[in-house]
Amino acid sequence: NIRGVIFDLDGVLTDTAEYHYQAWQKLANEEGLFFNREINESLRGVSRHASLMLIIGNREYSEVQIQEMMARKNNYYVELIHNITPADLLPGAVALLAELHEAGIKIAIGSASKNARMVIEKLGIGDRVDVVTDGDTVQAVKPAPDLFLNAANQLGIPPDECVVFEDAAVGITAAKAANMWVVGLGPGERVGDADVVLPSLAGVKWDELIKNLFHAEA
Ligand code: G6P
Ligand code: MG
Repeated sequence: NIRGVIFDLDGVLTDTAEYHYQAWQKLANEEGLFFNREINESLRGVSRHASLMLIIGNREYSEVQIQEMMARKNNYYVELIHNITPADLLPGAVALLAELHEAGIKIAIGSASKNARMVIEKLGIGDRVDVVTDGDTVQAVKPAPDLFLNAANQLGIPPDECVVFEDAAVGITAAKAANMWVVGLGPGERVGDADVVLPSLAGVKWDELIKNLFHAEA
């Protein structure tokens, strides 16, 4: 009996991957580091620090320089997300949030981002969300289950009565490690380990999805 839904934010409810890309690209250009959209794709769901480590590769930087670069990238990103409005909710998001609300399902956001609250506010969905677990709430980042377990705990719902919506491979792993049901959004190469894979939230009907979810496992 599903009583809670936990949404990842970036790439699920809104497409901030583009803004992360632009911010990392600007930093990489300034530092003379190689970066492109393809590398950015592999950073979905990956924490800011781990993302930077992947981008710098084996180039040597001091801890102070690393902290400074993380702050610089974040400043670029924060500048970009200032322009987010409710129109930036991805297709299907508003309808699904409304349907869940009517069905009495509790809703949480489980995002690795330390900017999640600002994005939620800009999207205008704060009053639709019961719980926010973000990059400041837990230490261990995805693929560790901690973020989703914290969200379920705050909702007061056992993990196996929660469904997670994720667009990142590390997020699918995290949801499964938390013993939750997981819907993967995007190409099978990325989210194929999910219980159900969909291209996006567009046209998703909650009761049909639940049937698919349990049918897939049966
Ligand atoms: C999400 C995004 C990642 C991002 C991470 C940390 O998981 O998908 O691309 O690196 O959050 O975001 P932050 O806003 O804290 O840098
Ligand atoms: Mg994501």
